[in-house]
Amino acid sequence: MVMKQGYFITGTDTNAGKTWATIALMRYFRRQGKTVAGMKPVAAGYSFPCPASERRDDRLKNEDALLIQENASLPIDYDLINPYAYQLPVSPHIAGIDNPVKMAKIVESFNVLKELAEIVLVEGAGGWFTPLNDSEDISDLAKALALPVILVVAIRLGCINHAKLTWQAIQNAGIPCAGWIAVCVDPDMLNRDENIRTIETALNAPLLGVLPYLASADFDLLAGRLAF
Ligand SMILES: Nc1ncnc2c1ncn2[C@@H]1O[C@H](COP(=O)(O)OP(=O)(O)OP(=O)(O)O)[C@@H](O)[C@H]1O
Ligand SMILES: [Mg+2]
Repeated sequence: MVMKQGYFITGTDTNAGKTWATIALMRYFRRQGKTVAGMKPVAAGYSFPCPASERRDDRLKNEDALLIQENASLPIDYDLINPYAYQLPVSPHIAGIDNPVKMAKIVESFNVLKELAEIVLVEGAGGWFTPLNDSEDISDLAKALALPVILVVAIRLGCINHAKLTWQAIQNAGIPCAGWIAVCVDPDMLNRDENIRTIETALNAPLLGVLPYLASADFDLLAGRLAF
């Protein structure tokens, strides 16, 4: 196995900043000279047929997964990165009613990625308890991949409660947490630093970085704000 370390990126919610944090992490590790791959195994919404010029099939491709593909150290087949792309922005267990998520298929793709890069990052979908099918959710996926979790906390009103709830659920699952990342998604957030300090005290895991609010994405800048 080439992989030395993998991480499962979860968040306090959908739209928490998981993808921005994942891409920043990919660039952070690449700067350290490591080979990096990533995965967005289940994506619902923001999925569209690929441009006609690239079309080999009519499968849907998702924006998060394409970004992860672009930022890898090496070219990786899209199907490995995103085995499940659903068109509608609804919970995967609903979006996937005709083609439900099979955990084994994701594990199979992940096992291939483990042979390709030293660092493999897997972005979840939604939050920690987002259902993937009738009986399994994101927490089961993190377990199935046997990866430590990185928790992305969207710094906005309500974030302390969301961070503590998610942290407690990760602890209850007995899954190690490598740390958390604060993503400043709200430019008008009041008392941002106090909120971050409160979460830092509540979570017994290292703060790996505070990603500032940016009007437009600059993943190299964000990578510079991370430290393991
Ligand atoms: N540092 C930032 N500064 C400003 N806006 C940000 C920042 N990080 C994220 N955002 C905004 O928040 C949105 C959601 O971020 P992102 O796509 O990373 O969330 P996500 O948790 O991956 O969402 P999903 O559940 O759809 O996968 C982005 O489209 C972007 O507009
Ligand atoms: Mg995302």
